[in-house]
Amino acid sequence: MNLCVIGTGYVGLVTGVCLADMGNDVICIDNNETKIDKLNKDIMPIYEPGLKELVIKNKKQKQLRFSKSIADGVKHADVIFISVDTPPRPNGEADLRSVANVCREIALYMDRYKVVVDKSTVPVETGEKVAETIRRYNKRNIDFDVVSNPEFLREGSAVHDTMHPDRIVIGTNSPRAVNIMEELYRPLKAPVIVTDIKSAEIIKHASNSFLAMKISYVNALSIICERAGADVTKVAAGMGWDKRIGKTFLNAGIGYGGACFPKDVKAFIKIAEKLNCGFELLEAVEEINDRQWRHFLKKIEETLWVIHDKTIGVLGVSFKPNTDDIRSAPSINIIKALLAEGARIRAYDPQAMEKAKEILPEVVFCPDPYAAAEGADALIILTEWDEFRNLDLKKVSKLLTHPIILDGRNIFDPAEMEALGFIYKSMGR
Ligand code: UDX
Repeated sequence: MNLCVIGTGYVGLVTGVCLADMGNDVICIDNNETKIDKLNKDIMPIYEPGLKELVIKNKKQKQLRFSKSIADGVKHADVIFISVDTPPRPNGEADLRSVANVCREIALYMDRYKVVVDKSTVPVETGEKVAETIRRYNKRNIDFDVVSNPEFLREGSAVHDTMHPDRIVIGTNSPRAVNIMEELYRPLKAPVIVTDIKSAEIIKHASNSFLAMKISYVNALSIICERAGADVTKVAAGMGWDKRIGKTFLNAGIGYGGACFPKDVKAFIKIAEKLNCGFELLEAVEEINDRQWRHFLKKIEETLWVIHDKTIGVLGVSFKPNTDDIRSAPSINIIKALLAEGARIRAYDPQAMEKAKEILPEVVFCPDPYAAAEGADALIILTEWDEFRNLDLKKVSKLLTHPIILDGRNIFDPAEMEALGFIYKSMGR
């Protein structure tokens, strides 16, 4: 099929590249010229395992092109994906300006029947607005259908998630569009859920908010476990065996971050508010998430007492492992708070240091975890990269001024750490 994907952010780029790899002829479009120039030179704007290889392969096979021109893309495509950014406005609502602009342009260049697919995370009722806008600017009255097809890929495993989705949601009132979308996704052999547009739109916000709720639940539990003298990892494991609860997304820590959960929970609260329904449960989810990194900060303060003039080694800056993304990372809040109290920070992250340097100029970034530990009064773990699980802890202990590790992600066993002579504090244990 001939496709175009407008917007080459995380979702758009990965979607476009994977659709090309599934045998389609894809043009990926972005109005950011530098980004397109870089992609044309095989320079990826994000770190994502397997992405670059797929870009190179599909460009070579002439199934993938990058362009700045929406006109080219719209004329080429039978199915047009909108995956532009929907950033939060100051009040938490999604800013839909980019979506609206793209709709106008699609309408101007439409020359035959098109399926217009919304992949961006948008509030319920956006599909209706998309259809209305295209109808208004589509002077030649060309037939089209709108589909909401939310994306559930995770950063760090985006290519894998796109190629092996748990489900595909197709929201539309047009049987013709359903047929086209089902044919497009057939190679993935995933369950397909066909709904109306509004239900599909809500599925995305509802799923992300539910997952955020699971994390806040276990984080709230972690404080109870700490006070009661229980171990939250054991409690979560015991809960997880119940199939109705499930084992995933029950890791207590310093809270969720990233480009999706914080934004989507906020946006869903706003959506509910507009529909005159309070979503107090999600307000509590946000509150607990914010409390969690502050709780970890307090642990550092209690352990080191006066932070001023202390050297603190930091392992991990990205909001989660296997990504260089630091957007809304709780680690940044913690590092900034420690700097404000007068600490010296020596940090290491396997992928995120380039991005972190831009917003944390006071931090000394180190070439490896051992360099971050060297001469530090304590080592704090903020992201659970596998590399940290395999550290030579005896070496770390010798490098630290005091053998203190504060682990915001529970990657080590407290008894083993104690046996190694560490003062070891983690979350909810
Ligand atoms: C999320 C959704 O999972 C994905 O379906 C959606 O398309 C985009 O948002 P992502 O933001 O890439 O994906 O990361 P995810 O792996 O879901 O983790 C989100 C945050 O939750 C991270 O900060 C992570 O550290 C935190 N988390 C996750 C926990 O604190 N505990 C857990 O048990 C799981």
